[in-house]
Amino acid sequence: MNTEKLTAGEVERAAAVLRRGGLLGLPTETVYGLGANGLDPAAVGRIFAAKGRPQDNPLILHIPSADWLERYCQNIPPAAWTLADQFWPGPLTLILERKPLVPDAVTAGLDTVGIRCPSHPVCRAILTAAGVPAAAPSGNASGRPSPTSAAGMLEDMEGKIDAIVDGGPCSVGVESTIVDLTVRPPRLLRPGGVTLEELREALGEVAVDPAVERLMGAGEQPRAPGMKYRHYAPRAPVTVVRGDPARCAAYIAAHLGPEDGVVCFAEFAGDYPGHRVEILGPAADKAAQARNVFDALRAFDGTDVPAIWAQCPDEAGLGLAVANRLNKAAGFHIVGLEGEP
Ligand code: TXA
Ligand code: MG
Repeated sequence: MNTEKLTAGEVERAAAVLRRGGLLGLPTETVYGLGANGLDPAAVGRIFAAKGRPQDNPLILHIPSADWLERYCQNIPPAAWTLADQFWPGPLTLILERKPLVPDAVTAGLDTVGIRCPSHPVCRAILTAAGVPAAAPSGNASGRPSPTSAAGMLEDMEGKIDAIVDGGPCSVGVESTIVDLTVRPPRLLRPGGVTLEELREALGEVAVDPAVERLMGAGEQPRAPGMKYRHYAPRAPVTVVRGDPARCAAYIAAHLGPEDGVVCFAEFAGDYPGHRVEILGPAADKAAQARNVFDALRAFDGTDVPAIWAQCPDEAGLGLAVANRLNKAAGFHIVGLEGEP
């Protein structure tokens, strides 16, 4: 199939792709999505085929405004409206009880559904024009880092989707925060652009699913099925080094092999002469790190570095989301320097 490249102005053409059951590369503020009409099970089925995505991994429904929530969800708790008021449109997905009209193909048979109202103006215009919600996972092939530009998405999806809209680079750079509101207390399933601190300020107690911070053991089930997969994985194995940035930089310099690559804070980019280095962003700028983390990981796929060493921010604020993506890329292979002499 020939993938049609659309500009941000071609909203009607993009909406028509969704309406006729096609696959559309969709810009959002987090990452690019692979969208299809979320009420059409056949169209949703094609998403799984294009990505090579496991069938047991449910999709998020994207809506253009919060007043669509009641079309697809029931028994909506007050906390959902509190969060929608405060963070929508924006990088936050709510897990709620679904109404029967949401297809099993979207929810993987669960009785809950993830709903998100993105803030990207082109995305919202397309959803409004289409008049249907878009089921959309991140636009990468399964197991690859999420794409933060149209060009990045085309690396994985050229020829597999009907069209893609170029809405520019993503302003957040990591996928949405997911919070499950069907359990008490509410539970963070995936950290993202809306921080845990912000959720706690809005709701009070918020639990953190163990899959956010460690690898699930055999027989353990994360509440977000997708969190059990080793996502975001570059082709070379990754080791995350966590702790004081200067000490971590020195640790990496002392341990890396002659051909190894490094993902580091901008301040330390000159510390690895002769090595392939990708910059995460300044050590104090977690928003920049979030925007760069997936591209930094993707950049190594065209190379033959045998291993990658990565610096990692602390977990306050957006750092939790950046650290989670790096840790998942590393399969939670982490060296912690805090406790060492
Ligand atoms: O920012 C984002 O959320 C992007 C953009 C495109 O909107 N989308 C995205 O979708 O990251 P995806 O499919 O790559 O990740 C969705 C995650 C998966 O881990 C999935 O298991 C989880 O959300 N999920 C979806 N529906 C769920 C549900 N009903 N209960 C628990 N987890 C759910
Ligand atoms: Mg994904």
